[in-house]
Amino acid sequence: MTDSSKQHIEEKRDVTFRVHRFNPQVDSKPYFDDYTIKLEKGITVLRALNYIKEHVDASLTFRAFCQAGICGSCAMRINNMSKLACTTQVWDELERTREPNVIRVEPLRNLPLIKDLVVEMDPLVGKMQQFSNWVDSKMPEEQWGRKEFLVSEEEFRKYDKATDCILCASCVSECTILRANRDYVSPAVLLKSYRMNVDSRDASHEQRLAGLVGDHGVWDCTHCYRCQETCVKHIPIMDAIHGIREDAIERRGVKDTSGARHAEAFMTDIGKKGKLVEATLPIRTNGVAWTLKNLLPMAFKMVIKRRTPPPPLLVKSTSGIEQFRAEFREMSGHVAKDHEKKSGE
Ligand code: SF4
Ligand code: SF4
Ligand code: FES
Repeated sequence: MTDSSKQHIEEKRDVTFRVHRFNPQVDSKPYFDDYTIKLEKGITVLRALNYIKEHVDASLTFRAFCQAGICGSCAMRINNMSKLACTTQVWDELERTREPNVIRVEPLRNLPLIKDLVVEMDPLVGKMQQFSNWVDSKMPEEQWGRKEFLVSEEEFRKYDKATDCILCASCVSECTILRANRDYVSPAVLLKSYRMNVDSRDASHEQRLAGLVGDHGVWDCTHCYRCQETCVKHIPIMDAIHGIREDAIERRGVKDTSGARHAEAFMTDIGKKGKLVEATLPIRTNGVAWTLKNLLPMAFKMVIKRRTPPPPLLVKSTSGIEQFRAEFREMSGHVAKDHEKKSGE
């Protein structure tokens, strides 16, 4: 066999797509269908799905439009990771499959399922409406279309990357907090909100921020970085989340929300002892009344199971605490300087 025919064989393979199926009109629960097709190297997952729909099973339902990574409509989970089907190469996926030559294709998570690979985007759009994810112009209406509203290049750089978001919802699908609580604001909405809040043309900054620090808002994020790792446009979503938190503390103070108070109590403990004083953390975060009402039953269970955290007086400082405190003070000093620099900009 010549080298070129060997290469030709290597570049053509039978690939099985294990695709999530669910038609609410006939199915009581979701299942998977296997479609095995012969493919050439260079083909994307979306083209393979199009082939299956055209030649194997016309009932397979998925969403796609631009086929160029622009519209965001073909986002789905491929081999357990949310991504765009139109920019995902089958050959790349074959290298990371659990079962040889089998690619698993599922709908996005954390959004209601409509059919097969299609999810409902309305909850995400609803949150964007709730947090006014648009520029609410400061310019008087009579001047619209008559006068330019200029933005400096320096200002634009602050939200340049955020404007790349194509609202594909891949980050939403991978968010660990949304898995537990669908009311959570979501990484995509935090990113858009940050982008609007740093835009000098916008008039809704305070109102938007007030919503973002409320229940199920920015303080619920656990900093797991999963959204950022998933983003199909490589947008630093965590910078936006940190930006909103810093802005909230600066404009509204640390006593404003339980999240901010929790962060403050956390920093105080770490600064003093190098570890958390867990027994009093809920009281310092949410107050005595809230703690008694919400945590008393759990506290009883913990006492019975002998799992209570040690009382504050028994929490000893970690070893090498002096050195740690010096480093902590130095780090806090750098952060304070950064804040001063940013607010002076
Ligand atoms: S970092 Fe926050 S927003 Fe991003 S996935 Fe984790 S919990 Fe969700
Ligand atoms: S932030 Fe990234 S992953 Fe999330 S919706 Fe926008 S483009 Fe998609
Ligand atoms: S079809 Fe538009 S991003 Fe994939």
